[in-house]
Amino acid sequence: MGSALCCCSSDKVDEGVSVVTPGNTTWRIFTYKELHTATNGFRDDNMLGEGGFGSVYLGKTSDGLQIAVKKLKAMTSKAEMEFAVEVEVLGRVRHKNLLGLRGYCVGTDQRLIVYDYMPNLSLLSHLHGQYSREVLLDWKRRMKIAIGSAEGILYLHHEVTPHIIHRDIKASNVLLDSDFEPLVADFGFAKLIPEGVSHMTTRVKGTLGYLAPEYAMWGKVSESCDVYSFGILLLELLTGRKPIEKLPGGVKRTITEWAEPFIAKGRFKDLVDPKLRGNFDENQLKQAINVAALCVQNEPEKRPSMKEVVGMLKGYDSRGKVMKTRMHSVKYREELLALDQTSDDDDDGGPEESYGVFGAMEVQKMQDPYRRYGDRKTTKNV
Ligand SMILES: Nc1ncnc2c1ncn2[C@@H]1O[C@H](COP(=O)(O)OP(=O)(O)OP(=O)(O)O)[C@@H](O)[C@H]1O
Ligand SMILES: [Mg+2]
Repeated sequence: MGSALCCCSSDKVDEGVSVVTPGNTTWRIFTYKELHTATNGFRDDNMLGEGGFGSVYLGKTSDGLQIAVKKLKAMTSKAEMEFAVEVEVLGRVRHKNLLGLRGYCVGTDQRLIVYDYMPNLSLLSHLHGQYSREVLLDWKRRMKIAIGSAEGILYLHHEVTPHIIHRDIKASNVLLDSDFEPLVADFGFAKLIPEGVSHMTTRVKGTLGYLAPEYAMWGKVSESCDVYSFGILLLELLTGRKPIEKLPGGVKRTITEWAEPFIAKGRFKDLVDPKLRGNFDENQLKQAINVAALCVQNEPEKRPSMKEVVGMLKGYDSRGKVMKTRMHSVKYREELLALDQTSDDDDDGGPEESYGVFGAMEVQKMQDPYRRYGDRKTTKNV
């Protein structure tokens, strides 16, 4: 493991010893044998889901703690880097809405990360996966999830030093505890931002459908990329629709393309997830749609900060009320949409699968992936 892991003192800490980092996060090093036993030998029955970098298994430690173990599938240098970043970042954060590190294991050819098990799995499983038919997410829970996940990102952007850009905010990375409190997970893609730097240029990683235009096109990463992704997540939460949807003829459509005409006509109620059967707070809905519309603006400098987002969602920041709601929509080019599998997934009730992940796509290959609607922006007073 490279030097990035040294911050976690892996050489200095004996197995089984708990470590309290300056952020007061408690984690420990697990042995491979311990995790093997805890997950019944990483049996398929224990698999909770599969992501871009490995599989996640449910486990139980000898002292009865339920854990989720992420096992990296390939020991490539890229996977090692992701692992190092994840462990480094997780060791620094502590917030009620961020899934902290419980521990990790570095074997000769294995890398595993241990988290607390979240009994209500991910937001994805409730919106589009195995829990979607049960409709456990009523309006109140959806608002709690929106505000809580925004608060988690706010902490990453403004309260931890150096600031952290998540870069992969999406429904499968918002996990839900037994009270449906959201915990933002997966900092493997995170980018640490040194003091005084406003943005960085980087290889594009993330998930199609949630990517901010300037990030997808030029690899320009800043906090407002997360704000954009949060806007898409919020729309998804309110409407129950996927960020990219496959229409009957096979054509794919983004959630902003779908929402734009409704917002233009002020038909907010038609946007809300029909599974709620009309049980929602209309004022909160308008405000939340307004926040989403502000977040998904094409120009990063026009997007609100996560502080403003939290303020608006909680109703004590008036920016949303005085601004006009408009929705910028983007349409991806066909070759880019072909890479996406989000809209192809069936809800089979099985373990969740990763989809639409770019991994590390070279920025050059992403040149101008959007066909814009020019200035065909719609305005509507709320
Ligand atoms: N701590 C956890 N508790 C419960 N379920 C979890 C936990 N961590 C992950 N999962 C489940 O495992 C699934 C796969 O997670 P993973 O992070 O590997 O992939 P992903 O989020 O789909 O994609 P990505 O690799 O881009 O993050 C998640 O969707 C979630 O349902
Ligand atoms: Mg994930």
